[in-house]
This record gives sequence, C-alpha cells and structure tokens, in this order.
Amino acid sequence: MGPRMSTRDITVTVNGAAHRHAVEPRLLLSDFLRGTLGLTGTHVGCEHGVCGACTVLLDGDSMRACLMFAVQADGCRVETVESLGRIGQLNPLQQSFHEHHALQCGFCTPGMLMTATDLLKKYPLATDDEIREGLSGNLCRCTGYEHIVAAIRAVVKERT
Ligand code: FES
Ligand code: FES
Repeated sequence: MGPRMSTRDITVTVNGAAHRHAVEPRLLLSDFLRGTLGLTGTHVGCEHGVCGACTVLLDGDSMRACLMFAVQADGCRVETVESLGRIGQLNPLQQSFHEHHALQCGFCTPGMLMTATDLLKKYPLATDDEIREGLSGNLCRCTGYEHIVAAIRAVVKERT
C-alpha cells in the first residue's frame, strides 16, 4: 500500500453556509464544490482556466474554480450559481437570460451568470462594450454572445 495523501481541514462558507471538510491539498475548488458538496451547478469545461464555465465568486470577485485548490479557499466566502435563485424564484438576471433566450447551450450558462453578477455589481450601468469586455473571458462557441449580451443589457436598462 502506497503512502496516504495527507489531508487538511478547511472551512469554506459556500452560499452562506459554513462547510468544514478534510481535503487533499491537490483537490481543485471546482471538484470540492461539485464532488464534495454536491453543488453541480458549477460546470467544468476545460479545467485549465480558459472557458470560464467554472466561474464562481470568491469573497465577492469572480474566480475560476478550476484554477484554485480548495485549500486556497479556506476561510473564504464562495458563491456559486445555486446562490442566485431557483426554479420558480429566478433572480432578475436569471429571469432575463430566460426571457432573452440566453441559455442556449446551457453548459456555459452558470459561468456566464456568475461573471455577469460580478460585472453588474461593479458596473451597475454597464455599457454594451463593458458587457462584452466583461464576458470576454467566458467562451460561447455557439452564437456570438448576442442573446447573452441582450439579457444583461436588459437588466441594466431596468436600473435606468
Ligand atoms: S473549467 Fe475552469 S475555466 Fe474552463
Ligand atoms: S451559450 Fe453556451 S456555448 Fe454559447
């Protein structure tokens, strides 16, 4: 039997609830969220920081969960797509994605929603250019982003 991988105790507050777990230092935050906590709304595409599907908020800022180890989130607050709303109780951004047909493939959507959440917090009255710039780290390979931008633009419009 080979040597056992040592674990570290971490406490991460995810969507408002504190979770204490012993994890291997090599465990990615994305795998901690999906595998350990069962929060499978965070999607994993490329697993090397390119596609943005795994985007979550870490202490309020968007972050790629596949580029961090879970141990690096020890003591931090993480918000995943599950924090936004639920079926029948969509938040305004989710509702707007629904109304503007911005879900499309669905796979990139959690990352798009979390990136847009961060964007709209920092730029509440974001222009189209700022929206496009903000989304530039999230890959959409299907439609050129038009519906996604329209959905975010509509949320901005509601604020003006
Ligand atoms: S899965 Fe993390 S950036 Fe693609
Ligand atoms: S909407 Fe997901 S790849 Fe375009």
